[in-house]
Amino acid sequence: MKIGLDSIGFYTSRYYLDIEELARARCVDAAKYKVGLGQNRMSVAPPSEDPVTLGANAALQALEGTPREDIAALLFATETSVDQSKAGGIYIHRLLDLPSRCRVVELKQACYGSTAAVQFAVALVAREPSSKVLVVASDISRYGLGSPGEPTQGCGAVAMVVSAKPRLLAIEPEHGVHTEEVMDFWRPNYRQEAVVDGKYSARLYTQVLLETFEQYKRESGRGLGDIQHFCYHLPFSRMAEKAHAALHKAQLGAAPGSKTLQVQIGDTLHYNRQTGNSYSAAIYAGLASLLDRSEQPLEGRRVGFYSYGSGCVGEFFSGVVQPGYRRDLGSAARLEMLSSRNALSIEGYEAMFNYAIPTDGSFLEIPIHDVGRFRLAAIRDHKRIYEAVN
Ligand code: HMG
Repeated sequence: MKIGLDSIGFYTSRYYLDIEELARARCVDAAKYKVGLGQNRMSVAPPSEDPVTLGANAALQALEGTPREDIAALLFATETSVDQSKAGGIYIHRLLDLPSRCRVVELKQACYGSTAAVQFAVALVAREPSSKVLVVASDISRYGLGSPGEPTQGCGAVAMVVSAKPRLLAIEPEHGVHTEEVMDFWRPNYRQEAVVDGKYSARLYTQVLLETFEQYKRESGRGLGDIQHFCYHLPFSRMAEKAHAALHKAQLGAAPGSKTLQVQIGDTLHYNRQTGNSYSAAIYAGLASLLDRSEQPLEGRRVGFYSYGSGCVGEFFSGVVQPGYRRDLGSAARLEMLSSRNALSIEGYEAMFNYAIPTDGSFLEIPIHDVGRFRLAAIRDHKRIYEAVN
């Protein structure tokens, strides 16, 4: 029985900062951010947008054409949780009018949480093949004004319906996985910004890729030549290019030429270049980018996935694109969303970055911004009040 991704939705904030504008403000050569990191824009979440609203908008797209009563579980992956107790997915469950007979839970392991959710969803569907599971991965990446991580900030959400007889991608069972307790990136509960040892994190990302690919190869009997496209976790797009070159060198003794690099990962990078890091969502935003942007039909092609979450857990697995995947893919809405956003000035970005919500339970009405179909409208008595926008 084939199990995998039946649909995909991707959403990011309607506001962005041009990376050249950021470079100017920080007195850095723009080529460092554009070429060295490979980024063009950074999505900035206004106060009325958070991982719940981002995720609800992505889920609305993914659920198009799927009867709500088919959804037996909603797995919400985030490392930007809005509550220490309640799963953010429960707000999404209400906003999207999902059935009450539906499990909802939140999962966290840095950027890897989404892949854990996908694999758990596959297992749930294997037990009850008539059911479908909604996976929502949603995050806002924050490192701090003027920090080395600042140009890699961003936000976004991806939602995927996992089912038997999937229309987009059948997930293959073979995988390599590696867990190791390390301190490369973390965010203590009392902090709004991540703490990161950037260079160490990039080294670990690559080491764990090589290790998990070897495991995958042993388990599946497949090598690099059996995989046509690669979706990497995307903290910034150059990270994927460097990691892919390292994988080629380790497997084949030489780095890939620029044409091979373009064919194997080029189309997966477009959305990330415009949003920045969306943590748990980033790898699957890469898949949406590949499916939407590839000029070549992808039917029957194998896609390798490398998911890395600091701390750390890494996993390599693969899937095969299904016949007719372009039908109902919904690419036009995503391309339109990305081309119609609002550019921020550096002052506008910093004001959104510094906006703080009260922590004493007092009432706050959140200002109106350009958002998708849902917004955080107010905070009252420590409760977050979400509403649909028409
Ligand atoms: P940095 O140290 O300021 O930058 O910050 P750098 O000096 O390493 O330069 C970056 C690149 O730009 C280099 O390229 C430079 O040569 C180049 P490389 O040599 O590495 O190929 N460069 C230029 N290129 C053209 N023209 C120029 C120029 N100047 C320099 N004029 C760093 C970089 C990534 C460390 C920082 O942004 C950071 O700390 N980011 C956050 C951590 C991160 O993204 N880590 C990635 C792996 S870990 C991960 O992905 C997990 C994560 O998503 C969290 C989670 O799991 O939840 C982060």
